[in-house]
Order: sequence, then structure tokens, then C-alpha cells
Amino acid sequence: SAAEKDGHDWFMRKEIFEQPRAVADSLIGRRTAAGQLQLDEMRLADEELRDVDKIIIIACGTSFYAGMVAKYAIEHWTRTPVEVELASEFRYRDPIIDATTLIVAISQSGETADTLQAIRHARAQRAKVLAICNTNGSSIPRESDAVIYTHAGPEIGVASTKGFLTQLVACYLLALYIAQVKGTRFGDEIDEIMEHLEAMPGHIETVLERAEEVYALAADHAGTRSVLFLGRHAGYPVALEGALKLKELAYLHAEGFAAGELKHGPIALVEDNLPVLCVVPPQGRDHLHGKMLSGIQEVRARGARTICLAEDGDSSIEPYADVLIRLPKVPVLLQPLVAIVPLQLFACELATVLGHDVDQPRNLAKSVTVE
Ligand code: G6P
Repeated sequence: SAAEKDGHDWFMRKEIFEQPRAVADSLIGRRTAAGQLQLDEMRLADEELRDVDKIIIIACGTSFYAGMVAKYAIEHWTRTPVEVELASEFRYRDPIIDATTLIVAISQSGETADTLQAIRHARAQRAKVLAICNTNGSSIPRESDAVIYTHAGPEIGVASTKGFLTQLVACYLLALYIAQVKGTRFGDEIDEIMEHLEAMPGHIETVLERAEEVYALAADHAGTRSVLFLGRHAGYPVALEGALKLKELAYLHAEGFAAGELKHGPIALVEDNLPVLCVVPPQGRDHLHGKMLSGIQEVRARGARTICLAEDGDSSIEPYADVLIRLPKVPVLLQPLVAIVPLQLFACELATVLGHDVDQPRNLAKSVTVE
């Protein structure tokens, strides 16, 4: 009923709008009065974490994209090598793991068959397994050595939204915690990054206040057959997740690419009026922003209709954006928390306009408990 959906038409839309709360809840109680990061329920001793020399993140679907973002954050903040792998690939390829490997299994439901099997495989080879999960007492945390619970609350829409954002938060917390335990140079910046994280619910709220612009854009695309998504760095998994949402809900051909790969193939797909959604990194001292800008110019020169997500105040993008969606200014590694939100709204609205059942997309299940 509408009441269960808080007046929204779909659970998914309700869950998108719950994201500021979900992110805030996932941050509660993570810092001691003395400013130390704590992950109480984790059950992995600091010595065990200090011994970890390799991390392998395993997951499926949207959770896999959260894992890709986690790789950027964990490697940058902790200098620990991270691999990210689809659970279904990991378990059948004889991966190199031992007692100093930490497996991080990300699963909203805690019941995905491939992820569960991958955990069993890893534990049989003495690796430690940490689950990041939204469902208390589900199979994946039960079969893991340790767990960080996300606090999204029940997620009913088949396409994951608040589950994804809270997984990102848990991944950032894990990364910072490892930095603290290992004493990397980013250990000193934990406070600063935590403050940025604590500001994220407000920033997500700002993006949601601009939903009407995204809805209008979605309505304009009711006749579209194909959409490309470009991103780089932490924006690359956002592009992949944005494309996944469109496939899942609007049944459109949608593909995400790393912007740096354009010349290696994707640019051949560009033709007049092809919508290309571009996740523009924050303006910074690195080269990311400039490189993204030239990718946008290239697709636009070939006729693409560029829809750019760029931070407030970034005027350099204006000449190359056919449509500009503004994002709050946040650090590059945290940008996925705000950048994915317009893409969720876009997919939800476009599917609605096309008359699809957003909460129960055809052929999909909330939790894939068989192989
Ligand atoms: C299904 C759902 C996706 C989800 C994926 C992984 O495909 O439709 O939304 O991302 O499973 O689920 P998990 O519960 O393991 O995160």
C-alpha cells in the first residue's frame, strides 16, 4: 500500500529517499570520545588485521560495484593490495589465498549463493572472511569470521539502492580502520575523512532536493534505446552501477565504461544523439578532472548528447554539457555516495514512465539463492 511506501509509488523510490538516514545510521557509534575509530561488532583482532597482506573482495551485482569503490579507498588509505572479484568467478578459478589473506564478502541479503560458496571455498584455505551485510543473522555473516553490519533497514525494491550506499559507508569505515590499525600516513587524516563522511547525509539530501530535474530528464528519454555511462577512478564503478540500474529497471541497453578506455572501442558506438552520462570527478590537483573533460569533448564531437554530473561551481564543464546535473562538492573517493543518487532516480523514473514494475523487474530476484 501507499502507506507502507511512505506515500511513494514504489518501494525503490522510498528507499532512494531514505538514503540520507541509512547513511547516517551506518555511521552511528563508529568513533570513540577520543576520536578513535571503532568497529565493535567486527570480531577481528587488530593483530589479525595487521598481518593481512592482501585483501580480496567478493560480491555479485550492485555489491560488486561497492567492492570496486572499496578497492580505490582501501589501497589509497592503507597501502594494502586489493583485488575485487565476482563471487561466481572467484570460486571456480583456483585463487591464491592463505592465512594472511582477508576476504571481504559484500552482500545486502546475506543469502547470495555464489558469495556464500566463495566464502566456504576461502575459509577451507584458512583465509579470514569479513562479511559486510545488511541482514542480521543471515547465512553469509553466520559463516564468516567477522562482520560489519550496514544499517540500511529492510530493502524491498529488487534493485539495490540504500543497500549500496550503506555498503560504501561500511567499506570506507573498514578502510579507515585498517589505516588506523596499520598506522599508515592516512591514519592522521581519519578525523578529517570521518567529518566528510558525517556530512554526506546532508549532501545526499541536497541531491534528492534536485530530483525533479532528473525526472524531467528521464521523461525526455522515454524513446531512447541505448545509453552509455562514463566515469573514471571512483566514478568508474558509479558508471557501471548507473548502467546496471537502467538494465534492471528500464530494460534498456546500457553500458558503463572507464573514460580512459573510450579510444579502445566504446567511442565507435557513439552516434548522433546517443545519450552519454558522464560522472565528472571533483576538480582537484590530480589529472582526473581534465582527462574526463577531454573524454566528454571527444564523445560530444561525434554527436553524443552529454549529460554530465559535475560538482557545484565546476564551470569548466559548462561548454561541453548538453545537460548538467549538479553534485555537492565532496572528496573524490567519497563522490560515489552522491553521484549514484541521480542515476538511481533516473532509472526509477524512466522505468516508471515506460510503465514497468520498478519493484519487481522481470526475470530478476531480490536475492539469488541458487546458482
Ligand atoms: C540480485 C539483486 C541485486 C543485488 C545482487 C547481489 O541480483 O537483484 O540488487 O545487487 O543480487 O545481492 P546481495 O544480496 O548479495 O548484495
